[in-house]
Amino acid sequence: MAAERRLILRHIDQPGYTPDIDCYRRHGGYKTLEKALRLEAAEGPDGRRLTPQERLRQEVAVSQLRGRGGAGFPTGLKWSLVDRTSGKPIHLICNADESEPGAFKDRQILYKDPHQLLEGMILACYANEAHQAWIYIRGEFIQGARILEKALEEARRAGFLGNNILGSGYDLEIHIHRGAGAYICGEETALIESLEGRRPYPRVKPPFYPTVFGLYQCPTIVNNVETLCAVKHVIEMGGAEYAKLGSPNNTGTRIVCLSGCVRRPGYYEIETGKVTLRELIFEESFGGGLREGRRLKAVIPGGVSSRVFRAGEKVKLPSSDPSEQGAARAVDALDIPYDFTTVAAAGSMSGAGAIIVLDDTVSMVEALANIAEFFAHESCGQCVPCREGSFWISEILRRILRGEGRPQDPDELLRIARNIAGGKTVCAFGDACARPVESFVTKFEEEFRAACGARIGAPAGGE
Ligand SMILES: Cc1cc2nc3c(=O)[nH]c(=O)nc-3n(C[C@H](O)[C@H](O)[C@H](O)COP(=O)(O)O)c2cc1C
Repeated sequence: MAAERRLILRHIDQPGYTPDIDCYRRHGGYKTLEKALRLEAAEGPDGRRLTPQERLRQEVAVSQLRGRGGAGFPTGLKWSLVDRTSGKPIHLICNADESEPGAFKDRQILYKDPHQLLEGMILACYANEAHQAWIYIRGEFIQGARILEKALEEARRAGFLGNNILGSGYDLEIHIHRGAGAYICGEETALIESLEGRRPYPRVKPPFYPTVFGLYQCPTIVNNVETLCAVKHVIEMGGAEYAKLGSPNNTGTRIVCLSGCVRRPGYYEIETGKVTLRELIFEESFGGGLREGRRLKAVIPGGVSSRVFRAGEKVKLPSSDPSEQGAARAVDALDIPYDFTTVAAAGSMSGAGAIIVLDDTVSMVEALANIAEFFAHESCGQCVPCREGSFWISEILRRILRGEGRPQDPDELLRIARNIAGGKTVCAFGDACARPVESFVTKFEEEFRAACGARIGAPAGGE
């Protein structure tokens, strides 16, 4: 039977575990940092002499850790892209904006184990020779910001922050910046704009890759809350040991947030790729199945920006049998292991690990209207296809829900979505808003057709 593998959530929700520093230290907290600060230079695998900081970066590279903020970008690779030649200070930002509907994992860490995040951040800053760092926290996490302020004060008093940390000669200050509750501020370049005090319009990449031109045009690392906690475990265990957890190219553990029509919604930490979607939804140790008498209708595997899977849908995956030379095999979408690579190969994405389960009581038109309203509200408005398209999509769906759908509306929804998607916008928000529309309308064609009295694919007529 599939089971949780708690690393980051090891202490969270244990009786008597509190977010203060004494409790964290009683559970071994800050020991990894103390050890890391005593690390000396040593020879690397290629015979080159590595500084202590390079050794730490090497461990993260060896761990093959992938970012938990959504894109699954390899953390070691990101750190290797930091421009260390410009002479400018290097900054680190913890992305604690967590606004993807269905995601609620970072919040648990911020509220219940803030020192684990701080230890991960201090280690990441030390490894990257950063002396100033920021936590950009979602505006709605008011209590979370208070908890973090207290944790920072405790860490400063204990000598883990400030000047000459634990006598090592290393200085670091961490600042908290509260957002104002905008989804776009989770996009790293919009976040940086917001942190600099401007309207959060995402920046154009290239040239504004944060690792080169980030905060105040300095090289900047932006990492997610969970990623930074994972860094602490990578350094504690060693990169090679960490890489033994999970599956190839999807190492370690990750936290999944299960919500919607399951009996046991919540957050679960699993070895990446060792548990299938079916197990996550139906096993007693996870979602515990659907309510009495209900049937599964659909699963959104990676937050509302991801493509929906229809219950019973067959997806094509490359065969793992070497003799079949990667030939595609059809697999039930529910039977794919939950990891970055497989969910992407199956045509969707695992994103920030937000799985939303829909049963046969849910109207797909209503669910999409809900999602579309969110995107229309949250589009920053910088790019015309996204600003106008997200609004039109939402308006059309509202009209369908009022019973005023027109036969051509499903085609119209697809046409607008396709005009937003495919790199026509500065940031990935455009694609994020188009994906659910495209997948809901094509995979639940009959439901949208019935709601509009239309046939998808038929030429769109006039009024
Ligand atoms: C519209 C949009 C919203 C995003 N929201 C978040 C968020 O709330 N939290 C987050 O960590 N990453 C978010 N991201 C991803 C970030 O841009 C960035 O890739 C991430 O913080 C990098 O951290 P990681 O490498 O540790 O995953 C968002 C991206 C987009 C396009």
